[in-house]
Amino acid sequence: MTKKTSVGLIFGGNSSEYEVSIVSGHNIYNAIDKEKFEVHPIWITNEGYIASEADAFKVLADPSYQVENPHKLANLSNISELANLPEIDIFFPIVHGNLGEDGVLQGLFRLLNKPFVGDDVLAAAVTMDKDFTKILAERAGVPVAKWLTVKRPEYEDGESPKLDFDYVVKTLGTSNLFVKPSNQGSSVGISHVQKAADYAPALAEAFKYDDKILVEEGIDGTEVETAVLGNDRPVVSGVGQIINKAGTWYTYENKYAAESTTKLQIPADLPTEVVEATRKYALKVYQATECSGLARIDFMLRTSDQKVIFNELNALPGFTNISMYPKLFEEAGIPYTELITKLIELGQARFDHKAKLLHKHD
Ligand SMILES: Nc1ncnc2c1ncn2[C@@H]1O[C@H](COP(=O)(O)OP(=O)(O)O)[C@@H](O)[C@H]1O
Ligand SMILES: [Mg+2]
Repeated sequence: MTKKTSVGLIFGGNSSEYEVSIVSGHNIYNAIDKEKFEVHPIWITNEGYIASEADAFKVLADPSYQVENPHKLANLSNISELANLPEIDIFFPIVHGNLGEDGVLQGLFRLLNKPFVGDDVLAAAVTMDKDFTKILAERAGVPVAKWLTVKRPEYEDGESPKLDFDYVVKTLGTSNLFVKPSNQGSSVGISHVQKAADYAPALAEAFKYDDKILVEEGIDGTEVETAVLGNDRPVVSGVGQIINKAGTWYTYENKYAAESTTKLQIPADLPTEVVEATRKYALKVYQATECSGLARIDFMLRTSDQKVIFNELNALPGFTNISMYPKLFEEAGIPYTELITKLIELGQARFDHKAKLLHKHD
């Protein structure tokens, strides 16, 4: 019998998406093909440090498990312990948000010269920044909501016309605005602004989370999402739809609370033209941002004219077995267990390819 591939499944992390990551880790652990893979769970607690493997197994069995007396450490400071795991053949990070999804952890894997699942450093870093992602999407010919970027010094010196609601309304052509940090997730720090009095508080809220914020034209409609899988020849799934109750949007509560009024429809019941436009734009954005492995790509579908408008790209989307990304591929004929195998194979293939490229310089 050939030796099983040893997978370092990394989950948790000190971001607002800690809980989702634990559930994703739990589901991947249960579903992974045990004939092919041997899993080493690696748990980053929400205090930001790597717990023991024994504790990692406990949190997989019970997502609410906490270690006693956690050492509070900033910035995943014992993350370099990943260097001391020679038995791991490939890392599978399912850590959302800052440090997990933004290229930092991916940079560590590159330094360790280990294969890993999901996007590489450049794509992970670029797509964590909503401003850069929109610039690349627009350049690739994909429609995006009009937007302005405000940086902290402009905000603090108080003189930029972008701080004036009337100027912004004139520039973006609407008083229906979304204000958001450039680097965040889970709808944290985002406000829907429709009148002058709400603009300054929305800016202040977004600047709590980042030094750069986006003021965007609000799009009235529903949200459509699609999933992409692959390295240089990516495949695109069908489309799912998120329908918020009239007058509401996809807030943190609507994403995660049991009493959410938002409905997910997979696959979306939409005209072929809308589905095909979404899939075509998703592929363009995936390639423009040089993604590999996977990404979930999100759009607004404007009610007035059925136009599909790019919103954001998630390099490490939620991966519980009821999450949009795996569900879309299940619909497309790739069940959850097989999807996990494919992602691991893609990570390995990219690593093998890069190793060959490097040898050319020998
Ligand atoms: N330009 C916009 N028009 C309409 N709704 C928006 C717009 N931008 C964001 N939203 C709403 O806010 C939610 C969160 O924004 P998003 O940019 O996806 O950030 P996050 O990374 O936090 O998910 C979206 O799912 C949508 O409901
Ligand atoms: Mg989003």
